[in-house]
Amino acid sequence: MALFTVTDACTGCGLCVAACPASLVRQAKPGDAPHALPGREAHCIRCGHCVIACSKRAFVHALLPAEAFEPIRRKDLPTPAALSHLLMARRSCRTYAQETLFRQAILGLIESVRHAPTGHNMREVGWVVVDGPERMDAARTLVLDWIAAEVAADTPKAAELHLAGAARAAARGKDVIFRGAPHVVVAHAPAIGISPEVDAVIAASWLEIAAAAAGYAACWCGYLMFALASHPPVGQALGIPAGSTGYAALLLGKPATRVKWIPPRDVPEVIFF
Ligand SMILES: Cc1cc2nc3c(=O)[nH]c(=O)nc-3n(C[C@H](O)[C@H](O)[C@H](O)COP(=O)(O)O)c2cc1C
Repeated sequence: MALFTVTDACTGCGLCVAACPASLVRQAKPGDAPHALPGREAHCIRCGHCVIACSKRAFVHALLPAEAFEPIRRKDLPTPAALSHLLMARRSCRTYAQETLFRQAILGLIESVRHAPTGHNMREVGWVVVDGPERMDAARTLVLDWIAAEVAADTPKAAELHLAGAARAAARGKDVIFRGAPHVVVAHAPAIGISPEVDAVIAASWLEIAAAAAGYAACWCGYLMFALASHPPVGQALGIPAGSTGYAALLLGKPATRVKWIPPRDVPEVIFF
């Protein structure tokens, strides 16, 4: 099967050729209709850029049906000022309302970040949502057991992450692990891949922003991330698929209170080379 065809509306402008990241769309000379590089169809990463480059909608991709493409609603895009303000107003939340989120709301957030970039457009990031207080208790126990083992073995990680202090706080009844959040969402990806950790962290970062935009509260959950990275049974117990690793974890819920101020942050040093 041909990877793509072009309709009579093709003008031979070559924008599809320029758009293909894998250089699979070729053109004999400007003005000619494009053709696929023979024998390399399997290298297509299905990013769809060849299709969207064509203002005439003349580029028909065999693997990406035309009806699956959505128009961009320019009027719905945030202004730069609105986006900048959202990025500054997003905060790590450590006080959550004791209320679970509807699964549909969590799914909506996750679906909204499915366009996050991934290396080679692999799109292999998956999610585990720890759903509600009982499951959070079970997950917390997994993390605290890992912390106890690190402290008992006096590992460098235990010292570096002050895990003994976290264990003491937990023993006093302070939930330093999950901060009373009703959910923690883990982004995972197959450990063998182009850029699984970066892909998962980007997706989770987008999720944090999407949650802030929707009025939810979130916070990165370092203890769970360290436990997932150091002790694979934690991921297995949470249902992360075999062969995949949980690389990013975000607490999620509704905020117990709404803060009204943005704290100061240093302006980063920038070098133009
Ligand atoms: C990788 C990572 C792990 C984090 N782990 C935790 C955590 O375990 N507990 C926590 O309360 N905050 C955690 N945070 C949140 C940071 O402490 C937070 O970003 C910082 O305090 C600044 O606050 P802000 O995010 O509201 O600007 C983590 C942040 C990152 C990026």
